[in-house]
Amino acid sequence: MEKILIEVCMGSSCFSRGNKRNLELLQEYIRKEQLEETVELRGRLCAGSCKKGPNIMIDGNLYSGVTPSLLKTLLQSLSSRKR
Ligand code: FES
Repeated sequence: MEKILIEVCMGSSCFSRGNKRNLELLQEYIRKEQLEETVELRGRLCAGSCKKGPNIMIDGNLYSGVTPSLLKTLLQSLSSRKR
């Protein structure tokens, strides 16, 4: 099965706007739900949408203004896709 690709913008703007915390949450979630085989987590460089950040891409779809609660919702919909 193809992995779900999650790319977290590591540019300084997104990182300070919340991706530092989002990244920690993602790592925790992947570990807790044992999604290592399902999800590929990557950092990406600034994509020029800093004003809308923090930005996270999931399988090529850009999500902006990602708060921890939005991230949780996104992750829950991903878990239903595993297996
Ligand atoms: S820092 Fe994330 S889009 Fe620029």
